[in-house]
Amino acid sequence: MDLVTALARARSAERPAPDTPAGAAVPDLPGPPIPLPQPGAGELDLGTLLRLSLAAQDRAGRLRPTASAGGLHPVDATLVVGHNCALPQGRYGYDPLRHRAHLLGPTPDDTPPGTTVELSLTPQRTASHYGHRAWPLLLLDTGHAAAALSLAADALGTGPPTLRLDGRSAHPLATLHIPPPTTAPSAQAPTPHELLTRRSAPPPLIGAPPEDALRALLATLTEASAGEIAWCAAVGGPRPGLVAPTPEGALRRLAAGEARPTLAAWAAGQGWIADAGAVLLGHGCPADADAPRIRRAHLRAGLAVGLAHVAAGRLGLAARPVGSWQQADLGAALGAPPGEDWIVHALALGTTHPREGTP
Ligand SMILES: Cc1cc2nc3c(=O)[nH]c(=O)nc-3n(C[C@H](O)[C@H](O)[C@H](O)COP(=O)(O)O)c2cc1C
Repeated sequence: MDLVTALARARSAERPAPDTPAGAAVPDLPGPPIPLPQPGAGELDLGTLLRLSLAAQDRAGRLRPTASAGGLHPVDATLVVGHNCALPQGRYGYDPLRHRAHLLGPTPDDTPPGTTVELSLTPQRTASHYGHRAWPLLLLDTGHAAAALSLAADALGTGPPTLRLDGRSAHPLATLHIPPPTTAPSAQAPTPHELLTRRSAPPPLIGAPPEDALRALLATLTEASAGEIAWCAAVGGPRPGLVAPTPEGALRRLAAGEARPTLAAWAAGQGWIADAGAVLLGHGCPADADAPRIRRAHLRAGLAVGLAHVAAGRLGLAARPVGSWQQADLGAALGAPPGEDWIVHALALGTTHPREGTP
């Protein structure tokens, strides 16, 4: 699969063909399913880490606590388990439907303590609905899964996770090393309840978020993107336009005028976006980006929106990721040369609480 061509086609006006079967929700894993045991003192609680991030919450419907384009959940996890972890050292496939591990083989003696989670994809799941638009969504979904694991590690008070989202490897696409716990969770860490109740608020998402919430979320997005993606916000109200964060954490006006109806047209015609309270927009990844850069930009954008989605919930805001963008050349729309600055991902915001939204 040529990612450069796939992204150019996903960004075109071409419409996807009718749905095809999504296939199994979990890849075939060898050997018997192994329950995830309670951790001993000083061990990483792998069972809770996965319960808070990747485990299915009910077998019938919701496949993971994390967000996923179309709810299709194409991301698979392999666990490279070292010492001080609630499973014997080894390499395991994870079955999120049954919340069980399957031993795949041994790991080298110098495997770091805790666990390294390798994220890879079953592209057919997302392609079954999105067809040629699947690839950017698959990469964004992987970033969301990395965010979910990172937040779960914070909630458990592990040492800081080490993320590898450098785009150089296609298999696995991303890895996170999560060390054993060192302290109690920090006061800023999300709670297990917050992670398990995160939802994409059903449209309409109405009501303008306060400026300090926009500033805080743009800061979270910018930090998580590590320079791969820039962020701005489309706002309505009496002074509609685009605002961007300054290095000092303030907001500056990037453009004046109502952008949300254009965004709705660019996002596969999703009309509700025109009425969203605000839309946080991740942009970059030029048309001449090579495959590693495309991977990096989308993984980082997915990670950033995954973190900001939970942060928005903690600020009392309703939020919904938006991943399907066609002809969304933001740079050209603002007067720069075409092809340099495309919308990659977004988080729509409103002030309605998710449970109060109208499905
Ligand atoms: C990468 C990505 C792209 C998404 N794109 C859209 C979108 O364009 N429109 C939309 O309404 N929801 C979108 N969503 C939200 C999903 O539909 C939602 O996560 C899924 O239905 C599962 O629901 P939950 O987030 O409440 O668990 C997207 C989610 C992700 C992770």
